[in-house]
Amino acid sequence: MVKESLFQEIAASEDRFQLATYKKMPLAAARGRGAWLYTSDGARYLDLYGGHAVAATGHCHTHVVRAIQEQAGELLFYSNLVYSDVRARAAEKLVRLAPPTLSKAFFCNSGTEANENAMRIARLASGREKVITFGGGFHGRTADSISATFLGKYRELGRPNVPGHLEAEFGDIESVERVADETVAAIMLEPIQSMAGVRVAAPEFFARLRKLADERGIVLIYDEVQTGIGRTGEWFFAGSEAGASVVPDIITLAKALGSGVPVGACLVSEQLASQIKENDLGTTFGGGMLAMAAVTATLEAIEMDGMLSNVVAMESYLRERLSEISAIRRVRGRGLLLGIEFKEDVAQAVQEKLLERHIITGTSSDKRVLRLLPPLCLKPEDVDFFMEALINVA
Ligand SMILES: Cc1ncc(COP(=O)(O)O)c(C=O)c1O
Repeated sequence: MVKESLFQEIAASEDRFQLATYKKMPLAAARGRGAWLYTSDGARYLDLYGGHAVAATGHCHTHVVRAIQEQAGELLFYSNLVYSDVRARAAEKLVRLAPPTLSKAFFCNSGTEANENAMRIARLASGREKVITFGGGFHGRTADSISATFLGKYRELGRPNVPGHLEAEFGDIESVERVADETVAAIMLEPIQSMAGVRVAAPEFFARLRKLADERGIVLIYDEVQTGIGRTGEWFFAGSEAGASVVPDIITLAKALGSGVPVGACLVSEQLASQIKENDLGTTFGGGMLAMAAVTATLEAIEMDGMLSNVVAMESYLRERLSEISAIRRVRGRGLLLGIEFKEDVAQAVQEKLLERHIITGTSSDKRVLRLLPPLCLKPEDVDFFMEALINVA
C-alpha cells in the first residue's frame, strides 16, 4: 500500500506543477539497466521504446556513466568561445564514423535544433529560401521544424508557420520534381518515417533524390534523429542500403547521440561547410563538455559491445518470432526501428495490454502500427519475454 501511494504522490505532484505534454504511462521511472527500467515501487519493465529512442546504449551503460561522472568533476561546461579537447575528440570520433563526404560537425542540443540549423545552412549556402519535406515526416516542434512537419496536427500547432515550406510525397520522386524549382534551398526527409508508422521507401527513391538535388543545386538533408547512431544496424542510413554513394549533404542527429544527455548535431559536407562563416551559426549550450563526453562514450560503447551486429541479429530474431503471430500483417522498418503492422487498428490496445505485462512499446500515427525502438543491446531473452506476452495479447 505504501509503495502504491508513492507512485500516486509522484504522479499527483507532476500533474499539479507541470504543463501537460504526453499522456503518461502509469509508472514512475526510478532507475534503469540495459533494456530494463525500474519504477519507484521496485517493479521492472522491459523497455522496447527507449524513452523516445534515446536509450540506444541501454540504460546507464557503465562506460557512458563513468565518462559523464569523470567529466562532471573536471568541467561541466564552457561554450564554443574556447577550444576543448573533449569537444575535439567528440567531433573527430563522430566525423570519422560518418560517410566520408560529411567532414564537419556542428553541435546543438536537440533534434529540432539540428534540423533548424541544417535548413539555415542550406539557405545560407544556396541563397534560396524554400524547403521541401514529405507528408508523414516529423522534424520537431520549434518554428521552422514544425512548419516542415506535414504529419497530422503538428503543423497546425506551429501556426503562424514559417513560409516557404513545400510538401512532397514520400517515395514518389515525381512529386518532388514538380516542386523542386530554382527557389528551393533544401530537400529534407526522415529516411524511414518513424512517427508515421515506420514507413520505408525503395532504395531507388534515395538515389533519384540525390541525382535531382545535384541537378537542381539543392541541398539534401537526412533527418537521422531516429535512424542515426546505429539504430538500423549501420551507423547511419546515409550511405547504407541505397548504396555507399547515396549520401546527403547534411545529416541531423540527436536522441541516441548522448545516451540521454541532451545533444544534437549536424554533419555537414566540406563544400557546404566552406560557405559558413563565423557568427552565421551559434549556440550557448551546444558543444558543452558534459554532452561531448557523453557523445564520445556513447559511440565507444556501441563499438566496444558490437551493438551494430547485435542490431542485425536481433532484427532477424524478432522478425522470425513475429512471423508466428497471425494477427500481424507485416513488420516494417530496419534494424531496431520496427513497426509491427497488425491487420486491424489495434496498436493502442496491444500497447496497453503489453504495459500491463510490464513491457513498454510505442504507437504511431498509423493505428495499425506498434513501434519498437529498443536499446541496441537488446538480448534474445528480452525478445522471448516480449513474444510470450505478445502471443497472449495480440
Ligand atoms: C525524426 C525526428 N526528427 C526530429 C525530432 C525532434 O527531436 P527533439 O525532440 O530532440 O527536438 C524527432 C523527435 O521525435 C524525430 O523523431
